[in-house]
Amino acid sequence: MLKGIFISLEGVDGSGKTSLKEELLGHLAVFDPLSLREPGGTPISEKIRNLLLDTSNEDMQARTEAFLYASARCQLVETVIRPALQQGKMVIADRYIDSTLAYQGFGRGLPLDFLEQLNQLSTGGLRPDLTLLLDLDPTEGARRRAQDAPDRLEKAGLLFQNRVRQGYLQIARQEPQRICVIDAHQPLEMVVKNALQEIQQLLTKRGWYHPRA
Ligand code: TMP
Repeated sequence: MLKGIFISLEGVDGSGKTSLKEELLGHLAVFDPLSLREPGGTPISEKIRNLLLDTSNEDMQARTEAFLYASARCQLVETVIRPALQQGKMVIADRYIDSTLAYQGFGRGLPLDFLEQLNQLSTGGLRPDLTLLLDLDPTEGARRRAQDAPDRLEKAGLLFQNRVRQGYLQIARQEPQRICVIDAHQPLEMVVKNALQEIQQLLTKRGWYHPRA
C-alpha cells in the first residue's frame, strides 16, 4: 500500500465538486493536500483536456474520447499522483476513474468491461482510498451553471447527464466500501460536513492525526 491518502470527488456537471474541493483544501490545510483536476493536472493532460472539451470537436467518437481521457489520466498518475502518494502526501482529485465509467460507460454506452480494463491500464490499478460522490439531479446542476458556456460534454444534454447520474449511483452500490454518496441538494456547508466526517474516518483508520478533529 502507498503511504499517502488518495481522495477523489465525483458527480454530474454542476454538482459542486469544485466548491467542495476548495472547502476541503481549507479544512485539511494542515496536511498540505495536493489538489488536482481531471482531465488535467500536467501540461500534457491539460492539452488533452482542451481537445476533449472543445465544442468544435463534434465528431469525436466515443472510444476516441475514452482513450483521450485514459491518456490524460495515465500521464497524471505516472508523473504526479503515484509519486505524491509514495512520498506520503494527501491527494484530492476532482474526478478520476469513476468519471470514465459514468460518462463513457453509462453516458455514451461503451461496454463497462472495456472501460474497467482501460482504467486498469491507464492507472496501473491505482484506486482512490475514498471517493465522495456528490449526487445531484442534473436539472439542478444545469441551473447552477446556467451562466457558464457549456463545454462539449455539458452540451450532451440532460438525458445524457441523467444516465451519468444513475450510472454513478450504480457504481457506488457496487463499491460501498470506497464510494460514499453525499446528497448535493443540501447546502454546501452540510455537504462539507458530510465529506469531512468520511475523511476523518479514513484518517483515523490510517492512523493520521488531525489536530482540529
Ligand atoms: P469538469 O472539469 O467540468 O468536471 O469537466 C470535465 C468533463 O469531462 C466533465 O463533463 C466530465 C467529463 N469527463 C468524462 O467524460 N470522463 C472522464 O474520465 C473524466 C475525468 C471527465
